[in-house]
Amino acid sequence: MGDPVPKGPVPEDPVLEDPVPEGPVLEGPVPEHPVLSARGLVREFRGFRAVDGVDLDIAEGSVHALVGPNGAGKTTLFNLLTGFLKPTEGSVRLGDHELAGRAPERIARLGLARSFQITSLFAELTPRQHVELALAGRTGLGWRFWRSDSALGRYSGRAAGLLEQVGLEDHGETPAGSLAYGRKRALELALALALDPKVLLLDEPTAGMGVEDVDRTVALIRKVRAGRTVVLVEHNMSVVSSLADRVTVLQHGQVLVEGPYVEIRHDPRVVTAYLGDSNAAH
Ligand SMILES: Nc1ncnc2c1ncn2[C@@H]1O[C@H](COP(=O)(O)OP(=O)(O)OP(=O)(O)O)[C@@H](O)[C@H]1O
Ligand SMILES: [Mg+2]
Repeated sequence: MGDPVPKGPVPEDPVLEDPVPEGPVLEGPVPEHPVLSARGLVREFRGFRAVDGVDLDIAEGSVHALVGPNGAGKTTLFNLLTGFLKPTEGSVRLGDHELAGRAPERIARLGLARSFQITSLFAELTPRQHVELALAGRTGLGWRFWRSDSALGRYSGRAAGLLEQVGLEDHGETPAGSLAYGRKRALELALALALDPKVLLLDEPTAGMGVEDVDRTVALIRKVRAGRTVVLVEHNMSVVSSLADRVTVLQHGQVLVEGPYVEIRHDPRVVTAYLGDSNAAH
């Protein structure tokens, strides 16, 4: 038997040359008026706590990023905030409404819309049809009613406006299955915007994109944040730095650190959390 104490390389001190200043630094919107709040959120999967006691306040009008290593619980937290998963414990409030236990459609009608980490489009439908159906869906009349193109025609003007907003004006009639990846993600954003949400949640909006599409998406999010609150899960730290007013770092289902990007980026706990992760903060 060798030495019982494993002697792996001792991690170097995380980046400390730019230490976190003492005392509170108030930058960006401080969540005095949270539009979306979570308290004591827990989600267990067969006894494993994927989200483990999260308190979160999202300030109205802010762009708030959720970051953290793979498996930290970001998507699970998103699913709890949007009603796609029920919390094992805890509560979520959107304005005056308690959300925990409500169906996702009802939560969406209260003004909270989301995009998915994985694309979820109908390959054979065009972007125009997708957006028209999303607009029609807001009426609550159901898909059967809107199946004919003529019934949907009443939304063509607004659909065209949304497609233009996300840069898809020239691709309205291309079956979604044939769109390039970046354009599929843009279409998903248009579908979320069709709900005209107060709060827009985006799960890894730039995942898998080349630099050009990333830049386009950042510009797009800057544009659509006007008049609303945006919560985004994002691995790309340059995207976080250019968009987010506030950042919550998750690790092992818990909030590790929260603050403005300039503060958290050099926080030793954050650097340590990312050590060994290929998406390390830089
Ligand atoms: N439906 C599920 N059943 C069992 N375990 C789950 C389920 N969903 C998530 N988990 C586990 O919960 C943990 C958190 O997963 P989650 O997808 O929320 O992480 P994430 O931070 O979004 O990661 P990534 O950056 O890879 O997207 C992981 O360990 C994952 O395996
Ligand atoms: Mg995820």
